Amino acid sequence: MERVSIEADPAVLRGLDNWRDLPASQQPEWRSAEELRAVTDELAVSPPLVFAGEADQLREHLAKASRGEAFLLQGGDCAETFAESTADNIRNKIRTILQMAVVLTYGASLPIIKMGRMAGQYAKPRSNTMELRDGVELPAYRGDAVNGHAFTPESRVPDPNRLLSAYHRSATTLNLIRAFTGGGFADLRRVHEWNRGFTSNPAYKRYEQLAAEIDRAVRFMAAAGADFDALRTVDFYSSHEALLLDYERAMTRIDSRTGHPYNTSAHFLWIGERTRELEGAHVDLLSRVHNPIGVKLGPATTPETALALQERLNPEGTPGRLTFITRMGAERIRDVLPSLLSAVAAEGSPVTWVCDPMHGNTFSSPSGYKTRRFDTVLDEVRGFFEAHQAAGTVPGGLHVELTGDDVTEVLGGGEEIDEGALSRRYETLVDPRLNHQQSLEMAFAVSEMLRGS
Ligand code: PEP
Ligand code: CO
Repeated sequence: MERVSIEADPAVLRGLDNWRDLPASQQPEWRSAEELRAVTDELAVSPPLVFAGEADQLREHLAKASRGEAFLLQGGDCAETFAESTADNIRNKIRTILQMAVVLTYGASLPIIKMGRMAGQYAKPRSNTMELRDGVELPAYRGDAVNGHAFTPESRVPDPNRLLSAYHRSATTLNLIRAFTGGGFADLRRVHEWNRGFTSNPAYKRYEQLAAEIDRAVRFMAAAGADFDALRTVDFYSSHEALLLDYERAMTRIDSRTGHPYNTSAHFLWIGERTRELEGAHVDLLSRVHNPIGVKLGPATTPETALALQERLNPEGTPGRLTFITRMGAERIRDVLPSLLSAVAAEGSPVTWVCDPMHGNTFSSPSGYKTRRFDTVLDEVRGFFEAHQAAGTVPGGLHVELTGDDVTEVLGGGEEIDEGALSRRYETLVDPRLNHQQSLEMAFAVSEMLRGS
């Protein structure tokens, strides 16, 4: 059922189902069409998780990031899980992002737009449809919104009822995010105190000077009478990969103020590297919603593809509407990114460029863990800044997979996690995440790069 407002244009409404006739990759084979319909009918009349006005506000912020007047920090799990959507876990992630944001604010001398890969990041594209273990083959795990991670036939069957659980988990997560970031947890002085704990650790000695500068800046603000009460709350936006079309369609509503469709499952949605076919279902559905959206661009992206995506997803050239999230790999970024930057700049339509230094740098350790090296990740960020500087374009943000806990999934960093240590706390169900300390270390390192840029 559609919440049709007076202004809703029937052609616009019909367009929202156009994707159903297009090729759609990475969709689960749900166990029952009837169950799926019952679930999407229920979702379609369930309250929105976010509001059109919030998405519009985020679009304005991202427009600023495209012009170098703000910088985006987007972070969170590769895949959120139902089991880990606990208060402690969510709080630790928010805290990590807020801590990083303070350090980046100083380095960039710009407002940082804070966004979680949170409150809806429950579905994963997979390279292989099936998983083979000890001669047994079962459907791959596709995220908690689709099936269970346990390697049993029952658990791996795609169950539409999981979409409802994903919706409810997203709602409770967002509720906590709103409470934390609106209720004093984000107080600048408090976040600064947490960072003091980090930089007093000898492993991070090289950031002592930067930390001391930030400390002086905060004390200066206090002495000059800055209104810290106004800095007790922050805007914090939600985002996830718009992968499961049945879910994303059910959460798409007509805004009664404007008559425009908005995806109300998150403020920002992105299309993944594996589902961004120009004539495919994902691009079609997202082309029709008014949220700010992103597209992942891997190392095989040609300038023609980037321009065609722009034309398709932002034909009017609305600032802040379209973000390109590049994930080239540290080895490729300096070769591949420059031609994309110059083609897009020559065309002239605004894009917010964001660096995902994670997904192009994944490999399997000899012991079989999917991992990444901290130094390689940082090197891709460096390559991103270098390419923008050379092209005269604007680096608009950073997209990272992180957790607020002390997991051991990414190699290196000041704590020097080595291959032997991976097994200690390897908890991710899909991609390896920076742990709490590595996330802060990355913020300090990127802050130095931003200052130098
Ligand atoms: C991800 O962001 O977890 C992901 C799967 O990324 P990509 O589409 O860039 O591979
Ligand atoms: Co990932």
